[in-house]
Amino acid sequence: MEIILQETAAEASVIAAKIIARLVREKPNAVLGLATGSTPLGLYRELIRLHQEEGLDFSQVTTFNLDEYIGVAGDHPCSYRLFMMENLFSGLNLPASQIHIPDGLAEDIPAHCEAYEEAIRAAGGIDLQVLGIGSDGHLGFNEPTSSLASRTRIKTLTEETRQDNARFFERVADVPHHCITMGMGTILESRVCLMLAFGANKAAAVSQAIEGPVSAMMPASALQLHPRVHVLLDAEASTKLTRKDYYQYVYDNKPTWQRY
Ligand code: GLP
Repeated sequence: MEIILQETAAEASVIAAKIIARLVREKPNAVLGLATGSTPLGLYRELIRLHQEEGLDFSQVTTFNLDEYIGVAGDHPCSYRLFMMENLFSGLNLPASQIHIPDGLAEDIPAHCEAYEEAIRAAGGIDLQVLGIGSDGHLGFNEPTSSLASRTRIKTLTEETRQDNARFFERVADVPHHCITMGMGTILESRVCLMLAFGANKAAAVSQAIEGPVSAMMPASALQLHPRVHVLLDAEASTKLTRKDYYQYVYDNKPTWQRY
C-alpha cells in the first residue's frame, strides 16, 4: 500500500488525476471504477481540466460506478447517476454507452446485480478503482460486517451513513435505506485501487483501515490484502496514523521513474 500525504485535498486530487491520466494514456481503452461523494470532486474537476486543456482522451474508456441508491431514479437530484453526469461525464468525451451505474429502479435487483458483475467481466475487469471511505470504514456502500468476498448486491445502509449522506437530501427521512453496491470481492479484483480521504472526520477510519487489523468490521481494511493500492490523504485525514514519517520517507525517496 502506498500512502501519499499531502497538505490539502486539492494537492492530493491533482496526484490522483495524474495516476489516472497516466493509465488512460498508456491504455486508452482502460476500464475505470468510479466513486461518488464529496471526496472525488477535486479529482473529477482535474480530469475534466486534463481533457479540456491537455487533450486527455476518454473516448475509449469504460466506467463502472460503485453504487446507487435503490428507489431513486437516474434523473433524481440525489441519484449517483445524476451526480456523475454533472460532476464528471458532462465534461469528458466519454460515450454514454460506455458508462455503467447500477440502476436504482431495477425490477429484479439480484438479476441486475449479476448482470453488473457480468458486464465488468465482459469489459475485461476494472483497471483502476477510485474509492472514498465512509466515516464507518465503508467502501462503496459495503457497511461494517460486509463479507470481504461479497459481490454486487443489495445492502442496507447504516444509520451513520444515512446521516452522513443526508446533506444531499432535503430531509434525513428522504435518504433511502437500501442501495446496490459492488461487493468487497468485486473491488478487490480491480487491478489498482486509488483511495482518497480528506478531512478530520475520516481520520479514525483511515488509521484503522491502513494500520489496524483486517476485519469485516472495517471493510476498507481489506485493501491491505490488495497488491496495488494508492491512498491519498490530506493533513486532517492523516492525523491518527502512527507511521506517517515512514510514508513520507518512502514518498520522498521514490525512484524518478516511479514519480507522478
Ligand atoms: C458514500 C459513497 C461512498 C463514499 C462515501 C464517502 O456513502 N457510497 O462511495 O466513499 O459516501 O462520502 P464523502 O466523500 O462525501 O465523504
